[in-house]
Amino acid sequence: MMLWRLLKEYLAPYRRWISFIVVLQLAGTIASLYLPSLNADIIDNGVVTGDTGYIVRIGGWMLAVSLIQIACTITAVYFGAQTAMAFGRDLRSQIFRQVGSFSSREVGRFGAPTLITRNTNDVQQIQMLAMMGFTMMIAAPIMLVGGVIMALREDVGLSWLVAVAIPILAGSVGLILTRMIPGFRLMQRRLDTVNQVLREQTTGIRVIRAFVREPYETERFGKANTDLTDVSITVGRWMSAIFPTVMLVLNVSSVAVLWFGGIRIDAGLMQIGALTAFLAYLIQILMAVMMSTIMLVMVPRAAVSADRIGEVLDTESSVVPPERGVTAVQRTGELEFRGVGFQYAGATHPVLRDIDFSATAGQTTAIVGSTGAGKTTLLNLIPRLFDATDGVVAVDGVDVRELDPEALWKRIGLVPQKAYLFSGTVASNLRLGKPDATDAEMWEALEIAQARDFVEDMPEGLESPVAQGGTNLSGGQRQRLAIARALIRRPEIYLFDDSFSALDVATDARLRMALAPVTAEATVLIVAQRVFTITDADQIVVLDDGHVVGLGTHDELLESCPTYTEIVESQMKAEAS
Ligand code: UTP
Ligand code: MG
Repeated sequence: MMLWRLLKEYLAPYRRWISFIVVLQLAGTIASLYLPSLNADIIDNGVVTGDTGYIVRIGGWMLAVSLIQIACTITAVYFGAQTAMAFGRDLRSQIFRQVGSFSSREVGRFGAPTLITRNTNDVQQIQMLAMMGFTMMIAAPIMLVGGVIMALREDVGLSWLVAVAIPILAGSVGLILTRMIPGFRLMQRRLDTVNQVLREQTTGIRVIRAFVREPYETERFGKANTDLTDVSITVGRWMSAIFPTVMLVLNVSSVAVLWFGGIRIDAGLMQIGALTAFLAYLIQILMAVMMSTIMLVMVPRAAVSADRIGEVLDTESSVVPPERGVTAVQRTGELEFRGVGFQYAGATHPVLRDIDFSATAGQTTAIVGSTGAGKTTLLNLIPRLFDATDGVVAVDGVDVRELDPEALWKRIGLVPQKAYLFSGTVASNLRLGKPDATDAEMWEALEIAQARDFVEDMPEGLESPVAQGGTNLSGGQRQRLAIARALIRRPEIYLFDDSFSALDVATDARLRMALAPVTAEATVLIVAQRVFTITDADQIVVLDDGHVVGLGTHDELLESCPTYTEIVESQMKAEAS
């Protein structure tokens, strides 16, 4: 079972702490089992006979035992909490590391909201089980067995009461708890939904406003929220029945003990002190039964969470870094696609098929094609955001799957189609490209990316704040910062995925002029929408529905490739009109 595997694996480093907790719990429980019998001694041998000295002596002894019990329990709970929290911390960081190794494919399969719930709430469920385990699970069985033995020692004649009370309590509490279990699984799933709706809405808030979708979205969140509340209330109702049930069984058994004990005392078969002790032991036993039952119920709940966590931990990234990556290569900047095909997970048709072309240093290769032709997918294969499902993508003649990932990424400057910026400052975003970049280097990169003007206009220059995703900037500003971020690392391979689409034609032209000398030595791949901006490229790859349907220069393609001619003509018409 996943739960035991997680507990075993992640509690292993704290073995010493746990044995310490067990010893403390053992000592504490034994002490608390000893107290009622001391009390019985005081009553039978002190109070009844009027021996004050005896009362004081045993009373002092009782006080000492109580102090030991308190000290043991407090320390045990303290270390139990520490260990459980440390366990949670380790598990969370492992999940985080695992998710970090995922390629876009695996993240897409789970979805971000459930990954977040799994790393927070689900871990918390197991952590809570561990915590309760350290404080109750260890004490309960000792208390149960010890209590039964001590009770029998006080009076065997009443022991049938214990035999009746335990199954009644365990049965009724157990019955209630089994009603709650199905609710737990549902609760985790609905928590996922609430997270998902909330996330979609906060990231898409502008779109929602623009399309006046607020009432609909409010209703959608309301429904998810109500669903979660409903199942929580159902579980809560059953939970609230537990305590009264326990009290009922406890009090009825106490009355029975007093009733039947009274008869035995009348008959001279039992002493008053023994009766009080017996009563105390019965209560201790029943408490232990209740604690174990509650623990037993937390197990299925934690098991649900453990399974969800296990799914994440057992998912292998489809993009696996090589064991011993090739770092030393002859740096030619040559980029090669050899019979490359790619199919998204779960898709019925491949998005790319039989892609064959190469690009060398100092060359600019443009990729054109209609929307959905597979241009972005093609580019993403180079930095291994995905791995090709067929054929080989090679950099410097080495399969990218055999290159050391760090070394590979250092050499690539990718400007993604959706320019994503991180929360921080302009400078912190640029430093993602090059961690030790100086101010001068940053300004230089900004200058080339045509971003200098607007960064200078911002109140704090390089230290101006950038919101998560760059939402406090315009689309074009975001694109230019993303370009600067790629430029600053001076890579050998530039990948521009439609990176100039949000720029006006004049800025676009200026940017290309400034880029030319910088990228002269490098291998440049440009995905472009506007064909007239790439007419002077060294080669143009025309993609259509995942196939290369044309390869050559602008003039060659105009002669030989109908798809290309079509694209050019349609854009010229649009220009003219
Ligand atoms: P691309 O995203 O590679 O197309 O998706 P593109 O050429 O860059 O398109 P534009 O110009 O930016 O708009 C190619 C195909 O892959 C599928 C899409 O449905 C599309 O038909 N696809 C893309 C997936 O199935 N899953 C993804 O995560 C992304
Ligand atoms: Mg694209």
